[in-house]
Amino acid sequence: MITKIEDYGYDGEGVGKVNGKVCFVPFTIIGEKIAFDVVKENSTFIKGKLSKVIEKASERSLPRCEYFGRCGGCAYQHLSYENELDIKKTLLLRQLKKAGFAGQIEVIASPQEYNYRNKVRLFVGHDGVGYKERESSNICSISHCEIAESMISSALSYTNEYIKNNKLQNIIDSIVIRCEGENGLINFFVKKENVCNYQGIYLVLGENWGIFETCKDKTYHKLGIKELQTSEFGLKLEYNVCSFHQVNRYIEKLLYQKVIESVSEISVVNCYSGAGLLSVLLAKAGKNVEAIELGETEHREAERLKDKNNIKNLKNYQGDCQIVLPKLDCKDKTIIVDPPRNGMSKGVSTTLNECGARQIIYISCNSASLVRDINLLKNYKLKKVYLFDMFARTGEYECLCLLSPIND
Ligand SMILES: C[S@@+](CC[C@H](N)C(=O)[O-])C[C@H]1O[C@@H](n2cnc3c(N)ncnc32)[C@H](O)[C@@H]1O
Repeated sequence: MITKIEDYGYDGEGVGKVNGKVCFVPFTIIGEKIAFDVVKENSTFIKGKLSKVIEKASERSLPRCEYFGRCGGCAYQHLSYENELDIKKTLLLRQLKKAGFAGQIEVIASPQEYNYRNKVRLFVGHDGVGYKERESSNICSISHCEIAESMISSALSYTNEYIKNNKLQNIIDSIVIRCEGENGLINFFVKKENVCNYQGIYLVLGENWGIFETCKDKTYHKLGIKELQTSEFGLKLEYNVCSFHQVNRYIEKLLYQKVIESVSEISVVNCYSGAGLLSVLLAKAGKNVEAIELGETEHREAERLKDKNNIKNLKNYQGDCQIVLPKLDCKDKTIIVDPPRNGMSKGVSTTLNECGARQIIYISCNSASLVRDINLLKNYKLKKVYLFDMFARTGEYECLCLLSPIND
């Protein structure tokens, strides 16, 4: 089929029309005439796979990665980074209009376009390890990843060989590789415990690596180092293979600085607080902080970070925000929420809406759940929005929204 691209869809894919029916074709640019193969079609839309660019847009550029277009990881390597940011901003603005926002969005680019990811999750297919292909459960086997730190790429290539040579494709489901400075951790998610012998891959990787195995939600340390250590903002951090940390350290600093400078109240409740770095930074900036985190590992790391830095004005609660938040006094405080992709539960939105907070700071990596949640916060209005490009070259980004009481 042939179409002319006239717009962008939610994930940055090009949108055209064929015989009046909308079609979505990834890796295409407004103004281009393209040919595509049909991947999926129903009565309202067609999803297509680009087969040929017939009339090229001037913005089209050569992707850096050989897997681009097949691998489902990146969405924008066919454009300059500037063009990518323009599209992300337009798409976010379009979403936020659904929450009544008519202001401007300030865009903060990732200081690194490539080699920024300090953690990747890859799946194991017949041909080896890789990301899922777009709109498919097929795995695109890769030997390196341009957006990951180079240390991850080398580990990835050895791991791929290890899995293929030892025919472990039916045992290992997926792997997580995480690195920090000279050190790295790999977690193998397996179907059966104690089948894999990791000695060979450990010898190749070296003693600055740690190997873990996860089976049925239980994680066991197998070989090498147990934790990663780093120092950020002058703080010493130690963290393990499972806990949540931002994947792009370069922009994380800018994001946290913006949050800290946006908090004018003396007391803060930090919901979905992860391993506690932001909480400690807020406490060091003189705020009285209460933080809520569900994950046991993250909570433990947050407590350790607090103790190591001798922080007194921070209280970490382990539990579900839906249960813990209603027990806290939020009146006249700033409440920060940074939920997972699916956003807040309805209970948390209801509590927030009624709690009398002076300000709500919502950090989100999913504009659809963000808009849904903001629409539930009827007593608050969206005042300022920042787009932090935490996931450069992919279809994802992070938003920072400042909300104030509707009657302010
Ligand atoms: C997007 S991360 C944010 C982490 C942290 N704000 C940071 O910057 O590192 C979301 C965190 O929410 C936690 N979480 C998920 N559901 C939760 C819930 N119902 N109550 C509290 N925390 C939750 C996760 O374990 C994860 O650490």
